[in-house]
Amino acid sequence: MGKERKVRAYTNIALIKYWGKKDETLFLPMNSSLSLTLDSFYTETAVRFDGSLERDEFWLNDVQQEEKAVQKISRVLDLFRETAGITEPAYVTSTNFVPTAAGLASSASGLAALAGAANLASGLHLDKRTLSTYARRGSGSATRSIYGGFVEWQMGTNNDDSYAVKIDDADWDIGMVTVIVNSKEKAVSSRAGMKNTVLTSPFYPSWLESTAKDLTEIKSAIREQDFQKLGEITESNGMKMHATVLGATPPFSYWEPDSIVAMHMVRELRQQGIPCYFTMDAGPNVKVLCRLSDSQKIQSYLTTYFSPEKVIISGPGKDIEDITNEGVYHD
Ligand code: ADP
Ligand code: DP6
Repeated sequence: MGKERKVRAYTNIALIKYWGKKDETLFLPMNSSLSLTLDSFYTETAVRFDGSLERDEFWLNDVQQEEKAVQKISRVLDLFRETAGITEPAYVTSTNFVPTAAGLASSASGLAALAGAANLASGLHLDKRTLSTYARRGSGSATRSIYGGFVEWQMGTNNDDSYAVKIDDADWDIGMVTVIVNSKEKAVSSRAGMKNTVLTSPFYPSWLESTAKDLTEIKSAIREQDFQKLGEITESNGMKMHATVLGATPPFSYWEPDSIVAMHMVRELRQQGIPCYFTMDAGPNVKVLCRLSDSQKIQSYLTTYFSPEKVIISGPGKDIEDITNEGVYHD
């Protein structure tokens, strides 16, 4: 029986969204994306390869997962088994310190943590860049959760050159306030939503064009530590992603009435002179990019409407961490 190895990976929220695949098997995206890793939401996953098991076993939040969920993680475990020459099934336990499947990026931290733990348990000890290509095969956004701070997922052209790169540590007074509008499992997964959008939305080609421009500009905003520019591009890119969804057939929307309330409140905060900007993913929750030093003021304002436990402050998260205290990751 192999040794159990456990890692923690933090979620990330895209400021420039990944929205669409050009290869569904390899998870090659239609566009490069850029995110901020968050310290308040994360997943801890332990993996052990164990010859006494008949098949992979997966426990998430103390609940044994059914065949479909096991298959999803087995596909990622297989990549490690193939490279490392392991034939044993794996015993996997995971805890999400983030609501699952609610547009709060549990798939990003979940699949990154799985890849990170399998990397150590298999003895492969891949460098982080290569590890990000394995995490990508579980969920696209997981590619970016290997690193902390601002992270770019460079779309690349093949399995080996579509990986994450750290752009900046985001240690210049950057924060994010998350408004949990609804933490229930969403009706349309990111995977299904982006697929339908690529296939049917007439707005999709313009999305790709304008996102390439947004990415270049946001990277220069980060280089110049220009917070206003960073926020304006973030807000605009998120809205454009949601516009492609409205143009799909059948049209759909991830927004709920309270998502719009939160967006209005962010605009009001700006009018009061507090720089902050919203973004949303494939769910109703609203994430507010802000100065970490303004985050408590923003939280206070938002909790005049939302309940306090639904408004959560995050600072920039870290790289994936080995919490068995034994393995070492290499850059
Ligand atoms: P989210 O917005 O939370 O990322 P998605 O629908 O995109 O929602 O992804 C949720 C899916 O991610 C889950 O159904 C599950 O398959 C996977 N997932 C979530 N947490 C974990 C975890 N800790 N380990 C492995 N897979 C996970
Ligand atoms: C809107 O990474 O969850 O959050 O690759 O199919 O697993 P799959 O999708 P996923 O999609 C994330 C979409 C997004 C934007 C983003 O995180 O970049």
